[in-house]
Amino acid sequence: MKALITVITGQDGYYLSKLLLEKGYEVHGLIRRSSSFNTSRIEPLMSKYESENKLKLYYSDLLDSSSITSLINLIEPDEVYNLAAQSHVAVSFKNPLYTSQVGTIGVISLLEAVKNSSKNIKFYQASSSEMYGGEDDSLLNEESQFTPKSPYAVSKVFAHEMTKIYRESYDMFAVNGILFNHESPHRGETFVTRKVTKAVGRIKQGIQTKLTLGNLNAFRDWGFAGDYVEGMWLMMQHSSPEDWVLATGESITVKEFAKKSFEAVGLNFEDFVITSERYLRPNEVDFLLGDSTKAREKLDWSPKTSIDELVSIMVDSDLNLAKKDGKQKR
Ligand code: NAP
Ligand code: GDD
Repeated sequence: MKALITVITGQDGYYLSKLLLEKGYEVHGLIRRSSSFNTSRIEPLMSKYESENKLKLYYSDLLDSSSITSLINLIEPDEVYNLAAQSHVAVSFKNPLYTSQVGTIGVISLLEAVKNSSKNIKFYQASSSEMYGGEDDSLLNEESQFTPKSPYAVSKVFAHEMTKIYRESYDMFAVNGILFNHESPHRGETFVTRKVTKAVGRIKQGIQTKLTLGNLNAFRDWGFAGDYVEGMWLMMQHSSPEDWVLATGESITVKEFAKKSFEAVGLNFEDFVITSERYLRPNEVDFLLGDSTKAREKLDWSPKTSIDELVSIMVDSDLNLAKKDGKQKR
């Protein structure tokens, strides 16, 4: 089996490519040109699988539709996983045009290339719980209404609906995975969980003194990214193309996540966390709680990692990184 992952260098790109390579797939991954190295997450996979020709990387960009079409025709994958997005919600308010271009035109380029291929290719679109808008404390499933609150969320609704349109109009195997927040030691450092656990490691090691956050009262349903990529793969193996929610079914506030993280190293959250308007958003998603009954029943998928285990995995990893950092500085 051949999979194409657009793109492979992000958090989910790492966990998904690892899963597929371990399953014996040939993995083809898009990377973007950058002025500095951007393959740090996948380097262990490159050293293990590139020499066996099981992992191949290609420069591209979702906005370069000619290169996307050429690569689909060259690789002829069995499955395409579209993970590409300007995925930071706060940044999407600052860069609405770019966020929207990647999330709309970029996704159509990919859908068109898949549709026009002579091969029957399965397509996965990374949809998001952010599309719901989180206006009240209801449990959200595949039937719940979307009320997007940011340029990011609007572009995700567009891509979600377009994926459905291609599925229904052209009989394509095209699925939307509506994933609630999922985190890991490979999470980008500007998302709140990783920002917190990185700071906890560094404060514990004495190389940082304070942590500045924004809204502490937002609720999120946080799971572990390693569990969620298994759900993505299961959706692509199901007998029919459908839309699926992946979530833990538990929601806690940013403040509770931060408290747990500081407690994990014996520190008191109140002694180190301050808040600043700088990190508030023009429009906030207050409450997200997912109901993944459909995936649990029809895909036999369930998250294996509890919130306390997630905190512990992330804090341990960031504490180790801070120790190395501390040694280098001495
Ligand atoms: P991530 O680490 O930010 O990865 C997003 C990837 O998109 C990055 O590798 C980035 O490339 C790439 N990208 C950005 N602009 C691009 C462009 N113009 N062309 C091609 N690639 C581009 O995010 P993630 O957490 O792995 O999330 C993966 C996907 O799932 C995203 O679409 C995200 O919106 C969606 N999602 C995430 C969550 C979550 O909680 N993690 C939940 C629901 C949905 P670089 O590596 O070069 O920057
Ligand atoms: N990033 C960030 N930084 N968020 C903060 C901070 C801070 O300093 N302080 C408080 N927050 C709050 C945000 O206002 C938000 O309510 C919550 O923490 C989570 O923010 P993020 O970690 O940035 O994630 P997100 O929920 O906005 O978006 C993530 O999850 C979506 C799925 O629901 C991203 O991964 C999206 O790409 C994904 O679709």
